[in-house]
Amino acid sequence: MVCGDILGLEAGVYHFDPNNMKLDQLRKGDFRSVLINATADDFDVKHAPAILVYTDIFTRNSIKYRTREYRHAFWDCGTIIANTLAMCNSHHLRSKVIMGFVDDVVNSLLDLNPEKEVSLALIPIGKDSQTSSKEPTKIKMLNLATEPLSSYPYDDPEITKLHLGSSLTSPEQVSLWQSKDTLIQSYKTSTKDIVLEPKLNEISVGTSIETVIIKRGSARKFSKEPISFQQLSTIIHYSTCGVCMDFLQKYGDSIIDLYIVVNSVKNLKSGIYYFNKKRNSLEILKEGIFRNDAMHLGLDQDLPGDGSVCIFFMTNLEKILDKLGNRGYRSAQMEASIMGGRFYLAAYSQKVEATGLTFYDDEVTEFFSPHSDNKNTMFMIVLGKK
Ligand SMILES: Cc1cc2nc3c(=O)[nH]c(=O)nc-3n(C[C@H](O)[C@H](O)[C@H](O)COP(=O)(O)O)c2cc1C
Repeated sequence: MVCGDILGLEAGVYHFDPNNMKLDQLRKGDFRSVLINATADDFDVKHAPAILVYTDIFTRNSIKYRTREYRHAFWDCGTIIANTLAMCNSHHLRSKVIMGFVDDVVNSLLDLNPEKEVSLALIPIGKDSQTSSKEPTKIKMLNLATEPLSSYPYDDPEITKLHLGSSLTSPEQVSLWQSKDTLIQSYKTSTKDIVLEPKLNEISVGTSIETVIIKRGSARKFSKEPISFQQLSTIIHYSTCGVCMDFLQKYGDSIIDLYIVVNSVKNLKSGIYYFNKKRNSLEILKEGIFRNDAMHLGLDQDLPGDGSVCIFFMTNLEKILDKLGNRGYRSAQMEASIMGGRFYLAAYSQKVEATGLTFYDDEVTEFFSPHSDNKNTMFMIVLGKK
């Protein structure tokens, strides 16, 4: 966390220690100007009393998942960011996800060794009427010692290459990146769609967002029982209403499409569907029982076969990269992951369980084709009853 003087905490750069639930001060003083410059920001970062920076330590996941850890970096970070955004919202604090920043500068401010740990996203929180100074501050590396994570660290050169290849190197480059138009889906009208029936403006008395976050976890086994159409509708409706991100022009815009396998939902035919965001409806692509296919697509694990609904978050990466350059890859992974995190929260608030899952990339595209032609899967989640 990078903050100015706030009630109860002096200005500084802090590292959150989740083991002891405390903030360790790395630097003393107000360093927000470094982030204002690094993000070429003129509003959200400039007015924020505190800015959270989310980082990923590659080894933690690459030791198990090898190069695919680069996805886990965004999956883990996005699901945590979904919690942060929900908390900000419930406390009436302004927040925004910033994906465009000068990587080197942000990493140096946090004293990271970018071969091991990198910054993925920034979230300015709150809005002060005063702006913090934009004067550039010189930063020196602190070279603080870090505790070893394991006795056999695994460094994957492909990950470093991919991350470097999507790095931005100057505030001018960040500004140029921000001014790019984002690709927004165009929806064809379909007559074969079922409009969602969410429980709107429902405030479950006695269930705070904190309770939902603490209750949230990844289901390890599903029964084959159905969830209700209203539960599914509410979960999809609230998870997709919008994420405030710097590369999206306005709230509600999205670069993610949802493809859904319905195994068992009351009052909804089993089959495969496409979510039409504009109409808030599900378009049926094919009726039938697809539990075995779902199980296979989810890396031959039982969870997607036993759950009620499997949701695949897809995007046309080629078009995204064309519009947003290499940084588009991080952006698509992050938006899908935040949306995935929202699905987790919305599910648990509806007494439905959820788990993220890994998938066979090309087979998912093929399974939903021709509708999904040229789209790549960014995230997968399964909803169901315990
Ligand atoms: C995108 C994503 C993919 C995941 N893939 C798998 C998987 O393939 N198999 C599995 O059993 N769990 C999978 N998980 C669940 C993780 O194991 C679980 O989220 C992690 O252990 C953290 O636990 P928690 O979600 O209960 O906090 C995945 C989670 C996410 C978010």
